[in-house]
Amino acid sequence: MTVRIMGTGSALPERQVTNEELARMVDTSDEWIRERTGIGGRHVSTGETVAELAARACMEALTDAGKEAGQVELLLVATCSPEDATPCAACQVQDRIGAGNALAFDLNAACSGFLFALHTAWAYITAGIYNNALIAGSEVLSKIVDWEDRSTCILFGDGAGAVYVEKSEDGGIISFVQHSDGSRGDVLSCGSRQIRSPYFSGDSRKMEIRMDGREIFSFAVRQVPKAVEEGLEKAGLAVSDVELFVLHQANKRIIEGIARRLSADCEKFPMNLQKTGNTSSASIPILLDELNRNGSLKRGMKIVLSGFGAGLTWGACVLEW
Ligand code: COA
Repeated sequence: MTVRIMGTGSALPERQVTNEELARMVDTSDEWIRERTGIGGRHVSTGETVAELAARACMEALTDAGKEAGQVELLLVATCSPEDATPCAACQVQDRIGAGNALAFDLNAACSGFLFALHTAWAYITAGIYNNALIAGSEVLSKIVDWEDRSTCILFGDGAGAVYVEKSEDGGIISFVQHSDGSRGDVLSCGSRQIRSPYFSGDSRKMEIRMDGREIFSFAVRQVPKAVEEGLEKAGLAVSDVELFVLHQANKRIIEGIARRLSADCEKFPMNLQKTGNTSSASIPILLDELNRNGSLKRGMKIVLSGFGAGLTWGACVLEW
């Protein structure tokens, strides 16, 4: 018995911000951004929240799967940018969509969050605790980006993606690989709130994203291919058996570097970061939804999902669509 994705959904804020628009705010250019990252634009919240975007994506995933919110048993939201410390975004989504029978909680593993949430749902379902789950990755990173830092503000975007999964006897998830390395947390970090305690005597914290771009770049290109190979070995499959690699959409050059290391055809690595930028935990389910809706995903296809990011965290999932 395993777990299979039965429906997908996504939601993006209406407002789109082009590279040219950013070039009027910081010292950069459309040419520099496209050449170094592949990103041409991103969607930015003008008020949409993590819970609101996640709820829209979840409703689409449920409709795609032909299910009702009341049938959902487990509701997970992966996010590193929730508006509120509590209640968690998943509880807010539960209320918005009327998933009153679900257990709901958040999970934060930054850009690997969706993948780790999918694994969590897989563990609950294969353990026989629940029969199905609704899993969203949702981010409003524009709240935590330093809009004066040209090396980071050009990278990120807002949005949400979701999948509905359920217990299945055929197809679905074949293998999982997950890794964390907390000793390298400083490579990509962001404080979540200033400490207001009168007893606290530490330094004030940086509340925007800080990143060592080169370190993250080489980490991803080195570790993701290894994780993918590990996942494929567990699944008893070869790189050549995989029809699509749905990777976290951080940077076109990172994805191309991973493809090269795997000796895989770049055509098998679909990308939508041109339009969305890096939406962290939302990027994999947003891309999955796009591929599902444009007919690129066919039942029986072998697919690899892979996420990587702050923590550091990274992993891969091999599945049959
Ligand atoms: N526009 C123009 N110039 C920029 C710029 C921008 N938006 N951002 C940085 N620069 C400048 C730097 O200031 C530096 O100038 P200097 O040589 O005068 O000091 C120069 O470009 C080179 O900077 P560097 O950081 O070495 O560039 P890079 O080739 O490594 O590209 C990134 C920078 C951020 C695009 C790249 O490192 C990257 O994509 N890293 C991965 C980031 C990522 O994906 N993070 C999320 C992972 S989940």
